[in-house]
Amino acid sequence: MEERMITGEQLDQEEEIELSLRPQSLNQYIGQTTVKENLAIFIKAAKLRNEPLDHVLLYGPPGLGKTTMASIISNEMEVAFRMTSGPAIERAGDLAAILSGLEAGDVLFIDEIHRLPRAVEEILYPAMEDFCLDIVIGTGSTARSVRLDLPPFTLVGATTRAGLLSAPLRDRFGVLTRLEYYEVEDLREIVERTSIVFDVKIAKEPALEIARRSRGTPRIANRLLKRVRDISQVKGEETISLETTQHALEMLQVDKTGLDHIDHKLLLAIIDAFQGGPVGLDTLAATVGEESQTIEDVYEPFLLQKGFIQRTPRGRLATPKAYEHFNRPLLSSD
Ligand code: ADE
Repeated sequence: MEERMITGEQLDQEEEIELSLRPQSLNQYIGQTTVKENLAIFIKAAKLRNEPLDHVLLYGPPGLGKTTMASIISNEMEVAFRMTSGPAIERAGDLAAILSGLEAGDVLFIDEIHRLPRAVEEILYPAMEDFCLDIVIGTGSTARSVRLDLPPFTLVGATTRAGLLSAPLRDRFGVLTRLEYYEVEDLREIVERTSIVFDVKIAKEPALEIARRSRGTPRIANRLLKRVRDISQVKGEETISLETTQHALEMLQVDKTGLDHIDHKLLLAIIDAFQGGPVGLDTLAATVGEESQTIEDVYEPFLLQKGFIQRTPRGRLATPKAYEHFNRPLLSSD
């Protein structure tokens, strides 16, 4: 597989490890059944017609495998994978250079595509729609616009929330795909697959325990497995035991439901500092010392999905389930 980062920062260690863990084909990809079935058909049809795949937008919370899916799309299409990200492209010229370097059929993956500067985004519209590049040559009264042809390509964009994308950009994707939180059984399979890549042994029960506490997210499951493996190896275990797993997860402050200390801080802030809410996102963020954006993209979707909080026009509310989780009596509002 050709995998190239064409702009932007070096991958950090976690991303490097994720790359090596990554399934290479739709068959190896665990979970997201509907997404896989749909993509398999679109890919097959595009190949039959000898055309590039339509542009694909992948959206959903972080850590669910958007980058992995993008690279699998290029493998299945048997074309090169080019990867960049919204924040890495600062000027229209940067994107023009990337686009003109593409070869016919290539997959261009733009992570965090909602963070593309507006001027850069405008270059993308004709590129996506007509495979051409409108560039302005010269300045002032001598400026003129030149249209350059591009090879047909597939843009795969990823974002944590499709709502963050401008409507004109969103409308230019032919395939809009939402990745969902994973089922516990799928996560268990992912943990077992990763343990093979790590060359460690883990029984079914401890793998399931990690899966249950990973907030539906493979990236978290793999991260927890790494820490559990550390503790197990230091103990000299041959196979990772359930006891070690539970102990490790406690040390990592991951509770039985998979909530971590930041989830706890958020929920307890709503319950204690704001009498259960409603409280606005920015106020909540300032209270717990986290970025509003991180809360909104990373923590809130899971807490909402699990029914620990509710979003109302007046802010976030802690639900009875949240009170119960901390054994707090529900305050009556009168
Ligand atoms: N590793 C991380 N996510 C995965 C997935 N969905 N399938 C297989 N391995 C994975």
